[in-house]
Amino acid sequence: MLAYRHAFHAGNPADVLKHVVLLQALRLLLAKPKALSFVDTHAGAGSYALAERMSQRLAEYMEGVGRLWQRDDVRTALQQADGTQRFPQAVLDYLRAVLAFNPDGTLRVAPGSPALAAHVLRDTDPMQLFELHPADCRSLQGLLGRRRHTTVHPADGFAGLKAVLPPPSRRALVLIDPSYELDADYARLLAALREAVERFATGVYLVWYPHVQSLESRGLGRRLRALAPAAWLEAQLWTAPARADGFGLMGSSMFVLNPPFGLEQALREAGPWLADALGRDGAGRFVLDAHLP
Ligand SMILES: C[S@@+](CC[C@H](N)C(=O)[O-])C[C@H]1O[C@@H](n2cnc3c(N)ncnc32)[C@H](O)[C@@H]1O
Repeated sequence: MLAYRHAFHAGNPADVLKHVVLLQALRLLLAKPKALSFVDTHAGAGSYALAERMSQRLAEYMEGVGRLWQRDDVRTALQQADGTQRFPQAVLDYLRAVLAFNPDGTLRVAPGSPALAAHVLRDTDPMQLFELHPADCRSLQGLLGRRRHTTVHPADGFAGLKAVLPPPSRRALVLIDPSYELDADYARLLAALREAVERFATGVYLVWYPHVQSLESRGLGRRLRALAPAAWLEAQLWTAPARADGFGLMGSSMFVLNPPFGLEQALREAGPWLADALGRDGAGRFVLDAHLP
């Protein structure tokens, strides 16, 4: 039985990076009329009520979306259309999407990747959502199970990915966002991604991974690049100093295979703002590496 529950971490700085990149990639891909499939191999519960016990226990969201929400300039920007120019567009798009789930302006809900994707996709764009934890899968089913063209799979996303690729429209964004609860997740991720790219080379793949002090985590960026995709970018957001005990999350990466045109520029603008807003004790840093021939 899996112990990881995303409710403990929803809305933390890593989620902010992940969801900023996800929303921007979707926004750019949705500029074309042809159907776009969204595949989430590790979808979680879909959305998280922040007042609930699991979210309150560590209150990680207070270092992430909650920290952004408390800023006067953010509140003003969200209330007044003319106060928005000083924000990078990708940050603003993210904040507006979160506001849609908190319409009175009080932060009560941290939308997860499936909720955010459903918010920006068109009704005709399919969703394939995988989630193994039975309770989170039930929540996800309740939230999105009745959406048209949507399948919630109570199944292993690493194993299930290849069966949903390529989609009929041959356009898809795949988010791979494991919990890395098991060391084997690193190797399974690489194997699933390699197989997916062999079947569907033109898909857009987004991989989230944590910056922790383990060998697997430190080597993953290099191993993702060694898959030798034609085009990729990696956005790293560092927000916390290394701890003496060797535990804890210092930051995270979003690795994007086949990034849509415009994503690199949008992230170059948004990243430094996020590092400044979310960094603690001088640790805020944004790094963007890209190979875009
Ligand atoms: C980091 S959370 C997902 C968060 C979500 N993508 C978001 O951004 O809102 C990872 C999820 O993967 C689930 N999970 C773990 N191993 C899995 C697997 N092999 N297949 C599908 N889901 C898995 C966990 O139960 C957890 O809910």
